[in-house]
Amino acid sequence: MKDKKFTVRDFKAFKARGEKIAMLTAYDYSMAKLLDDAGVDSLLVGDSLGMTMLGYENTLQVTMEDMIHHTKAVRRGTKNAFLIADMPFLSYHITIEEAVRNAGRFVREALTDAVKVEGGVEMAETIKAIVRAQIPVVAHIGLTPQSVNVFGGFKVQGKSLDQAKKLIEDALAVQEAGACAIVLECIPAKLAKVISEKLEIPTIGIGAGPDCDGQVLVIQDMIGMFKTFTPKFVKQFASVGEQIEAAAETYIREINSGAFPGPEHTFGIDDEVLEKLY
Ligand code: KIV
Repeated sequence: MKDKKFTVRDFKAFKARGEKIAMLTAYDYSMAKLLDDAGVDSLLVGDSLGMTMLGYENTLQVTMEDMIHHTKAVRRGTKNAFLIADMPFLSYHITIEEAVRNAGRFVREALTDAVKVEGGVEMAETIKAIVRAQIPVVAHIGLTPQSVNVFGGFKVQGKSLDQAKKLIEDALAVQEAGACAIVLECIPAKLAKVISEKLEIPTIGIGAGPDCDGQVLVIQDMIGMFKTFTPKFVKQFASVGEQIEAAAETYIREINSGAFPGPEHTFGIDDEVLEKLY
């Protein structure tokens, strides 16, 4: 448990000290509180909530209203972690003005510390405008899930020379635009190392190897709560899903056997009162 708030300035400070940044996603109050109490540096309300919380096939159906709703809940459970909200698909693609207005909604309505946007060179002007509005931005390149239809699936990015060069260009462009950190998703570890060495802002890897300046995982993957699909880069640190299933099975059994609720879970009533009921 840490008792110091992680601020936007800590991103560069951590990188300068060589201290790794630990980020996890969170989508609700009780999980945010547990993770914040555990001392995680940053919480991301990822639009992955479309899959983990809402049961969609990908993130494309997630709306601003979904994101604001979950981010408000996470905010209430977060004391020290740096809170980032993902800007959902189409909330920052149409015009820069709309992007700034939507980013501002996260700050004003859900009290986030920053927003995250997917994209590199093509998002640089948008990032600049959001930063100009005094809203810190975390960028995200590599396997950007909102581009799943363009990629033709969830595939590792940056393996060819052209792709790798483009990702380096993207990383430099978003840094230049004012991003305070950058998520590198599903790219070769050695490319992530090159990018991390070229940047002053920290890289937060997910499926990008050990040489990033920090790591992020989707909480449901990390604690074994999401059975639909587990990417290769996920390490399961707990088997909470199995525990929940086992608990639910025991609950059902005990209801049927009469073992639950026991006397310790039951409220009494005076006999005098009870007699008058018959
Ligand atoms: O939506 C999300 O959870 C993300 C992380 C996986 C980086 O973008």
